[in-house]
Amino acid sequence: MSETVKDTELALITLAAGQGSRMNSDRPKVLHALAGVPLIWHALRSGDAVSPARRIVVTGHGADAVEHAVALYDAAITCVRQAQQSGTADAVAQAQSPLAEFQGDAVVLYGDTPFISAQTLQRMQDARVSADLVVLGFEAEDPGRYGRLVENGQSLERIVEAKDASPQELSINLCNSGVVMADCATLFDLVSQVSNKNAAGEFYLTDIIQIGRHAGLSAQVVRCPQSETLGINTRGELAAAEARFQSTARLQALTDGVTLQDPDTTIFAFDTVIGRDSSVGAHTVFGPGVSVESGVEIRPFCHLEGCHISRGAIVGPFARLRPGAELQEDTHIGNFVEVKNSTIAPGAKVNHLSYVGDAEIGAASNIGAGTITCNYDGVSKHRTTIGARAFIGSNTLLVAPVSVGDDAMTGSGTVVTDDIPDGDLALARARQVNKPGMARRLLQLLRAQKAKKQGG
Ligand code: UD1
Ligand code: MG
Repeated sequence: MSETVKDTELALITLAAGQGSRMNSDRPKVLHALAGVPLIWHALRSGDAVSPARRIVVTGHGADAVEHAVALYDAAITCVRQAQQSGTADAVAQAQSPLAEFQGDAVVLYGDTPFISAQTLQRMQDARVSADLVVLGFEAEDPGRYGRLVENGQSLERIVEAKDASPQELSINLCNSGVVMADCATLFDLVSQVSNKNAAGEFYLTDIIQIGRHAGLSAQVVRCPQSETLGINTRGELAAAEARFQSTARLQALTDGVTLQDPDTTIFAFDTVIGRDSSVGAHTVFGPGVSVESGVEIRPFCHLEGCHISRGAIVGPFARLRPGAELQEDTHIGNFVEVKNSTIAPGAKVNHLSYVGDAEIGAASNIGAGTITCNYDGVSKHRTTIGARAFIGSNTLLVAPVSVGDDAMTGSGTVVTDDIPDGDLALARARQVNKPGMARRLLQLLRAQKAKKQGG
């Protein structure tokens, strides 16, 4: 052999054309959310672990929406459409034309199977040294509807779909995960020979084993734990997959040196990153795109999404960080504060009841309770810029676009519509008037009126 397995380029074919009718949903199955992102992203990430040279996704049901989600994952992925969902072999055949020039191996993954590990795919690549066709199998607790793998010693002879299996074949516990690896040209050649003469009237990808064996090819099973092959067909399975993802992510965070006050109530996303010696309070939800550096304190009941938090920051309790929130070192974001598309420079504090949207807040500034950036005029969004060491009085409204200079100040209750130069104090509110004794007289009058009504 002139080349080693490692030199063989890999093409990833991910099948995602099926309707997923058992989800009982208008939404294509692979677009249901798992860990905050479309299910298919998990399969794509599994495949990326083995650095494929080419990636093809086969779409069909809800193709436009599925292709949009795939492009959001990575626009370099090629999507091809399967006109009719007539079986997994027909789905694989759609990938032939984009891979016509490709030389190397192909691996078939399912878009609805999120947990195939890098190590497992690696073991399949290793097994390709001694077998033409490699199938990923698992010992099923309840083999149910899965295809059964019929072995003869070390050799895989064929795969029988449950619908077509004899009682004896149904008693086999070794099941087909759906993941197959073979030389790409060989795979397409075998797929072209598959017929649909079976109980479902479908073109079964699983038939390539028997066809290949008859043609003198060798086939082998690589085994993995059933938990890795968990495929999602129902909402119950989706919920079980979410639970599995969360328990793995929690354990990983704890192992990585993150304190979780109550791990069972922390919800992670697909791509959450948290640095060592950070802590996360109970009931905190991470949406996609959050990275937290080391030494950050996240207090209970926060909701974070698409944001970055630098070391030394304190967030919450009850804070909401939305996409584009950039918290620099030693910032404080307190209770009932929402931050969106804004940079909070080192040492700045927004501690109570505020909305900071489309804003720049300078270093060591203090944003008083109830401050609101009025960023939206009903048509467009506008920016607010606040300099360093500024002091924004409680209940200030900053009507954007507007800027506040370094070392500037606003009085409580100010509505800022004009820029404030460095070092100035802005006051924009009605001057207070005290009416001597008027409150007492007014109250006496009101009480007398009430007593008269009740008496009469
Ligand atoms: C398939 C396998 C079965 C295996 C099981 C593991 C076949 C014939 N059977 O059965 O041996 O135990 O997976 O979960 O392969 N798809 C398309 N186009 C189609 C049909 C399916 O893209 O025309 C896609 C689906 O979107 C899905 C995947 O292929 O991602 C598997 O299809 P599905 O219908 O779930 O196959 P199973 O009946 O579960
Ligand atoms: Mg299935």
